Amino acid sequence: MPATILVGGFFGDEGKGKIIAYLARHDKPEVVARGGVGPNAGHTVEVEGKKYALRMVPSGFVQESARLLIGSGVLVDPRVLRREVASFGLEGRVGVDRRCGIIELQHIEEDTKNAHLKGKIGSTGSGCGPANAARALRTARQAKDLEELQEFVCDVPAEINGALERGKGVLVEGTQGFGISLLYGTYPFVTSKDTTASQMAADVGLGPTRVDEVVVVFKSFPTRVGEGPFETQMAEAKAAELQIEEFGTVTGRKRRIGVWDGKMAAYSAMINGATTVALSGVDKLDPSCRGVREYGELSREVRDFVQRVEQDTRVPVKLISTGPEVSEIVDLRGEKLKIKN
Ligand code: GTP
Ligand code: IMP
Ligand code: MG
Repeated sequence: MPATILVGGFFGDEGKGKIIAYLARHDKPEVVARGGVGPNAGHTVEVEGKKYALRMVPSGFVQESARLLIGSGVLVDPRVLRREVASFGLEGRVGVDRRCGIIELQHIEEDTKNAHLKGKIGSTGSGCGPANAARALRTARQAKDLEELQEFVCDVPAEINGALERGKGVLVEGTQGFGISLLYGTYPFVTSKDTTASQMAADVGLGPTRVDEVVVVFKSFPTRVGEGPFETQMAEAKAAELQIEEFGTVTGRKRRIGVWDGKMAAYSAMINGATTVALSGVDKLDPSCRGVREYGELSREVRDFVQRVEQDTRVPVKLISTGPEVSEIVDLRGEKLKIKN
């Protein structure tokens, strides 16, 4: 992995945190940099029996040698950042670009009280929408303006491009998902920024010609939280029957659940310029596949599904997540031949 960007292909919560944690542990990039909107995202990482919910720091923290960066495109809530650095013991490893926009308490208040944001759109209430509005109006503060952030402040593009010059790996961790992109999603039921791979590159200061791989994560049963259209949504009772209920990491809200949407996956893979698809939650399709690590041990049903995903997206499925724990994955990136039958 020289420069790899990972993004969500559906409506967010595809399991990016888990895949990032696996890639960070397995490929050992020198740097893991987070792009995306800000602390509206919640990545879940399960490793060695412990479960972490991350809203600001990259999920690549599980690789202890990795430098952890937050790109200038990302909004920083200093309270959430400090809490995560302290509770996960990340002192000395985290860098925040000096130009990151700051979420003020007034932004959170507006996001939680404003009938349009909280009511109609179903925002996460984390202050991201109002903070990005302040950024566009050029009234926002930046990380460099805050005394309490001085210990973190750095130049993320210089660090990332420097690592690439030295031949080291860089992993860019996207947040949110294609369907809630301000540019390509179901406007107005979207987040306050684009969420595609090009945006993640810009967020961390990586030029388009420097990107080698784009991994798009899709979940076997897509989910959506908050308001807005969801074409393949199933009835709540059906999700309960299939035992595939999920709750949001940031807000605790119940996620709406749907079935695979091949049309959306194809469009999302195209705009993201996907080179690899990572598929999560195949154990929800067939519980007997939970924890499987070899392709040949996946059931016929799951292997047929993987083929369907490749046909829909026209991109090879090279990572297949078989459970929430970081080690529960089939990694086909080393395979030379197409063996998917
Ligand atoms: P955002 O950045 O907020 O979009 O989140 P995310 O893509 O990192 O996903 P999130 O952690 O919010 O939600 C995914 C949920 O599915 C978490 O509870 C994970 O622990 C879980 N998960 C991830 N991969 C798998 C998998 O292969 N199987 C199962 N059963 N659960 C998984
Ligand atoms: P906001 O980003 O908090 O303004 O919320 C706008 C919409 O995007 C709402 O429907 C949220 O539920 C959704 N959203 C924002 N971030 C995420 C995420 O990381 N995962 C899933 N949904 C998200
Ligand atoms: Mg999430």
